[in-house]
Amino acid sequence: MYLGVDYYPEHWPKEMMDEDINGIKQLGANIVRIGEFAWHLMEKEEGAFDFSFFDEVIEKLKKEQIAVMFGTPTATFPAWLAKKHPSILSEDENGQKRVFGGRRQYCFTSPIYRKYAAKITEELVKHYREEESIIAWQIDNEFGHEGSDMCYCSQCHEGFQQYLRTKYKSIDELNERFGTIFWGQTYNDFTEIPLPTKTITTHNPTLQLEWARFRSLTLNSFAHEMTAIVQKHKGDHQKVTTNVSGGFFQKWFDHAENVRPLDFVSYDNYPVWGGLAEPITPAHIAMTHDFNRGLLGKNYWIVEELMGAQGHNVIGYLPRPNQAKMWSYQAFAHGCTDMLYFRWRGMTKGAEQFCFGIVDHDNTYGRKYEEVQSLFENIRQYDELLKSDISSDIAVLYDYDNIWSWRFQVQSEGFDFTNELLRLYTPFYKWNAKMDVIPVDRDFNRYKVLIIPVLQIIDESLSERLRAFVQNGGTIVFSFRTGLKDKDNNIHFKQPLPGFVRDLAGIRVVETEALSDYQLVPIVGVGENEGETGEVSVWRDLIQLEGAEAYYRYDDPFYHERAAITKHQYGNGTVYYIGGGVNEEVLMPIAKEIIDHHKIEFVQSEDGVEVYVREVEGERYAFILNHTANEKEFNGETLKPFESKIQKW
Ligand code: GLA
Ligand code: ZN
Repeated sequence: MYLGVDYYPEHWPKEMMDEDINGIKQLGANIVRIGEFAWHLMEKEEGAFDFSFFDEVIEKLKKEQIAVMFGTPTATFPAWLAKKHPSILSEDENGQKRVFGGRRQYCFTSPIYRKYAAKITEELVKHYREEESIIAWQIDNEFGHEGSDMCYCSQCHEGFQQYLRTKYKSIDELNERFGTIFWGQTYNDFTEIPLPTKTITTHNPTLQLEWARFRSLTLNSFAHEMTAIVQKHKGDHQKVTTNVSGGFFQKWFDHAENVRPLDFVSYDNYPVWGGLAEPITPAHIAMTHDFNRGLLGKNYWIVEELMGAQGHNVIGYLPRPNQAKMWSYQAFAHGCTDMLYFRWRGMTKGAEQFCFGIVDHDNTYGRKYEEVQSLFENIRQYDELLKSDISSDIAVLYDYDNIWSWRFQVQSEGFDFTNELLRLYTPFYKWNAKMDVIPVDRDFNRYKVLIIPVLQIIDESLSERLRAFVQNGGTIVFSFRTGLKDKDNNIHFKQPLPGFVRDLAGIRVVETEALSDYQLVPIVGVGENEGETGEVSVWRDLIQLEGAEAYYRYDDPFYHERAAITKHQYGNGTVYYIGGGVNEEVLMPIAKEIIDHHKIEFVQSEDGVEVYVREVEGERYAFILNHTANEKEFNGETLKPFESKIQKW
């Protein structure tokens, strides 16, 4: 097990190195991550490669038996490169070149950037391929983060047209599938096709989705090119990863494809960041871990674990005593095996003066240092447990085409994909039932339950896979707008909703309504839910029963006969349809009904107390996490505010 910190020795006078490395050693660390922003230090002028600074750092670390994860520095290119080749700089939607000064302002399509990035990566990895203490390479840094996944430069425009020319056998086929006849947009040639930048009203939905797919292709091809260079030149003892950032559903690239060639996934766990008055919800944090475990379908690392408040020009919430430590235990519970905290010491200069570390600017070792030290001391004994596989009976399915389709046309101003995924995820989370979060094209037959939030894009082949799953006894939970569109991002023709799965759900959506941001529509229980009440926000599908039973209907003078939530037996399985943004209180008992039906392990706990049960060599352990600032009771014991622990189960 590797436990450590993100260390930037280049940020400090050399004479501080020994003191820092000793402080890191006393913390209980056995690894540091270095280098991921230090391109200029390693290539001060074009072709003048010099790794002597890091040679010295690594020698000092080696004396303290501290291993190294080395970051390839392609997220921050040198000023001399931007000056010599401005074409490497990406452009925003207004055609404004991004200037040198931040980070990740490069264009993934730029052949010049790829040449220089490949060269520094190759030279660096060749230099250290024999270095025993370097056990892993991190490719770049948080691909696509901070808006860097979008570029509208002429190179990207030409690349996009070429992508379309290759995909569509003729301009006629493209016109047909895009529906460019609408508003007279028919193209005579691929070179007439624009980027979907600002226009009057909105662009063609197929054009928009194809643009998102191109963004993903271009970013991932850059990532894979750099990965291939590292894999070609590295030592056999060295593994390869990249660090996934939060907000992964708001990015313009397919993350599972991005990490496909890697040895393991790394994640940067920031439950709160600049500008937020409070952290994201415990369920949301849990979901981010399940997503990262799902990318390669195995446990993962955390290479940036928050310990101090973070922010660039605006800071925010200060993690309370033991809260960041509790978030670390939560990460280990959900499959993290090795962890590095961001960062050793907060920097006094540069853009991240307010990204606080374990050690603050006064260079004293205080509460945060002790929290990390105590966590490192305690967690080491659980190495085998943390490496054990996590087996879930429930899978939450997502599809980036679908996410991007929603992003271009939100249909309801209150719509947010992550929120809608969490709407269905959270009730099962609160029952402490384990879940995987995986791409829809993954084999899902071994699961008992599929949670499929707002999956608009369903084609016949996917519907056949879903049908077989239900016929064999599985349970599916769909939510609203299911099966509306095809893979060209166009609405199915002559396909009553929910498209391709109407028979599975035993319903027909006869009318629909986008609910504006503040609108709440009351629903009332039917049958065994008689007397129950709830509410729907964001959207509502008005459902006609076709074999399904209604759980709830709309309490509405016009639509009181229309169901809002339904359940349908199909084959040996069951299909629930949640026809709108239904509130959690209504979904909790439905989740429990599904858990009980499939005899899925769950743990009853107070709201705010997360319990995650793991097993290794026949021994069971519970990670018990109090996510709240209050004392909580669990299993006959009192949990202090933000207390976290592992105990035999
Ligand atoms: C991200 C980046 C780091 C640093 C931190 C600050 O995770 O990977 O380089 O900017 O945020 O919180
Ligand atoms: Zn570009």
